[in-house]
Amino acid sequence: EQTFLEKLNVPEALTFDDVLLRPTESHIEPEEANTRTNVSKNVELSVPVLSAAMDTVTESEMATEMARQGGIGVLHRNMPIEETVQSVERVKRADELIIRDVVTAAPEQTVQEVDQMMNERGVSGAPVVDEDGMVLGIISGTDIRPYLEVGDRDEVREAMTDEVITAADDVTAREALELMYEHKIERVPIVDDSGILTGLVTMQGILQRREYDDAARDADGRLRVGVAVGPFEDDRAVAADDAGADVLFIDCAHAHNRSVIESAQEITSSVEADVVVGNIGTAEAAQALVDFADGLKVGIGPGSICTTRVVSGAGMPQMTAIANVADVASQHDVPVIADGGIRYSGDAIKAVAAGADAVMLGSYFAGTDEAPGRIITRNGKKYKQYRGMGSVGAMQSGGGDRYLKEADEDEEYVPEGVEAATPYKGSLESELHQLVGGMQSGMGYVGAESIADVKEEAEFVRVSPAGQTEGHPHDVMITDEAPNYKPREN
Ligand code: XMP
Repeated sequence: EQTFLEKLNVPEALTFDDVLLRPTESHIEPEEANTRTNVSKNVELSVPVLSAAMDTVTESEMATEMARQGGIGVLHRNMPIEETVQSVERVKRADELIIRDVVTAAPEQTVQEVDQMMNERGVSGAPVVDEDGMVLGIISGTDIRPYLEVGDRDEVREAMTDEVITAADDVTAREALELMYEHKIERVPIVDDSGILTGLVTMQGILQRREYDDAARDADGRLRVGVAVGPFEDDRAVAADDAGADVLFIDCAHAHNRSVIESAQEITSSVEADVVVGNIGTAEAAQALVDFADGLKVGIGPGSICTTRVVSGAGMPQMTAIANVADVASQHDVPVIADGGIRYSGDAIKAVAAGADAVMLGSYFAGTDEAPGRIITRNGKKYKQYRGMGSVGAMQSGGGDRYLKEADEDEEYVPEGVEAATPYKGSLESELHQLVGGMQSGMGYVGAESIADVKEEAEFVRVSPAGQTEGHPHDVMITDEAPNYKPREN
């Protein structure tokens, strides 16, 4: 029988600042370091980064940009299920080769009407179709302009080009582009066997896709997207899956819980998408999930806005939590995501060395343009709102069950997060560039060519408090802000 005194003879658990990667001889340059990884069993990314499922971080705009840049965004779940479906569809439609929601014109409309419609819908040309959807012609700003200049109210059928080059549904980007060059056109309507319009390919769309050659795409070339679902939200899971979500994230603050596990198992068997389960922080939790989960997410209280550890007295410093889970997960080839507490790119690559395949960040991205919410100004500095999903405000908007708490209207919440503001940062692209570039620098220092190499080969050294101070800028007054270093707020 263990005495209470013996109970206090406890193992130490470490977090990011407690360790550093040990530099070793290297044969690779940072930019050669390959950051490809698996975020779940069947979903590969070129950038090992996820944006957090929080209502001040990831909606469709963030998710679209994350996927374009090679990572993945996880849509939060403080929204009605229909909105989840629409958000998934919005990401899936962005950068699609064949546009399905085509703006069309009717032959009897006047050129003025069509001009106004095209302006409103933000397009510069439209197929002209009859009431059955048969393609009769195509009209563009160039066709209309001469009529507008002389003020003629002609019908579209007069102004349109009626020799239309069309293609079938299975057209590739290359074939479409060849047609466009050959015929000096910018749009190719897609038609079925009987000439009915089913979609449209545009030059602009093809060029835009080319810009993002590392984008995270599914087998059909559509951007990847993740969706958070509550531990007992089968209906949101099924709806998101039907809408084309690639990965579902069972979003729970403590997934090592019998009823959460049973429900997660049920959800996993009723959807096609991969299912990542979290959050956890121990080997026993990993053991309980590893047989059915397509990925495991780690983090009990490391987040910048979390108060779980102070409120509940429970938690696991993040580096030890990652290693606990990764030791089990790696035996079963289940990817591990380190969620929360990452402030610098160095923390992110340390997480990988501790066994993570990818990292999830909230505060790091909450200040970017793509995050929901307005820019606010305080004392001349710009901020964006950032709040914990366990904060009173966020729980009131719906997500209390993440903390396994009943969202009882007239009862007072016991929150596990705070509502805050984070410095405004500009575009996600440049933030992500700094994050991934810093991770690659780390890979250079440890001589790792790939994420797998970092996991296998990187070693740590322990850092003293004096070593931590030494590691940050010290004894100087910073005169110019670096794009990848901000002194800690507190
Ligand atoms: P960072 O540090 O990147 O952390 O801002 C984001 C992660 O924090 C978790 N999260 C919470 N944890 N109370 C908590 O204890 C909360 O209110 C809360 N909200 C979010 C979540 O895992 C997120 O990805």
